Amino acid sequence: MSYPKVTVVGAGQVGATAAFTLITRDVGDVMLIDVAEGLPQGKALDMMHARSVLKFGPRAAGTNDYADTAGSDVVVITAGVPRRPGMTRDELLAINAGIVSSVIERAVAASPDAVFICVTNPLDVMTDLAWKLSGLPASRVFGMGGVLDSARFAYFIAEATGAAIGDVEALVVGAHGDAMVPLPRMSTVAGRPFTDLLPTEEVAEVVRRTVFCGAEVVGLLKTGSAFYAPGVSVAAMVEAILGDTGAILPSCVRLTGEYGIDGVHMSVPALLGRGGVLGVPELALDADELAALRASATQVAEQIAALEAARA
Ligand code: LAC
Repeated sequence: MSYPKVTVVGAGQVGATAAFTLITRDVGDVMLIDVAEGLPQGKALDMMHARSVLKFGPRAAGTNDYADTAGSDVVVITAGVPRRPGMTRDELLAINAGIVSSVIERAVAASPDAVFICVTNPLDVMTDLAWKLSGLPASRVFGMGGVLDSARFAYFIAEATGAAIGDVEALVVGAHGDAMVPLPRMSTVAGRPFTDLLPTEEVAEVVRRTVFCGAEVVGLLKTGSAFYAPGVSVAAMVEAILGDTGAILPSCVRLTGEYGIDGVHMSVPALLGRGGVLGVPELALDADELAALRASATQVAEQIAALEAARA
């Protein structure tokens, strides 16, 4: 049995969780690559030991050499540093922009036909940069943000309503950060809009918790940011792509006029399949939702402009 090949760049917590999820769910063989010698090799070896217990088919391997990533079907980019105490947002932007630039150049050279999923923060800006540097169509370079934010929203909706998680469909669009746009009206519990199930102020509290829960996890962990939910969110996107399922998942894609937004990467529902983003079916947003989405786009556009000014 041969499996598709997925390269995961960055063998940190998010990359390793994505890799382990992909192999245990029989999605594809994973090549973990990192600049740290031994880290991807060690994690891949540990995963292969788990294979003896769980009996999944695909294999994981680790490397420090892009030659080993050649011919990948999907490349996931998790490489980057988290924000450290005393570091400004602009410094983080500059450091991770440098990392993403060097990764994209080598990863695209090794796998020119792959679909690329960016996970590095600040997500929307790094995805835009990765796409610009790749020279590839935007349908093959996009990011993971909305799946994670929507998963978190679904969790809080289930907790607040007592619903089974399987009955909850939740949707968050926009930037991956404080400017994200949870859509309570479009989120449902067994088909009923969330806005019909709880008083307005309780809906607002669930929305607020969703927006800030990435920071909530950082505050609790102290030494890093979330990785279980981010890792499985990446895996869900890869599974939709390699399975050519046509699943519509909120993904950080380049908008070219949809929702009246042009030239910005951020999360909206996107139809995913073997070629990457196969379409961006537009939601029927009301005036307030549309205004929030456009405000979110303006924030991303400002960050993109700031990065471009710094790199010029
Ligand atoms: C989060 C950060 C890491 O949402 O993007 O957890």
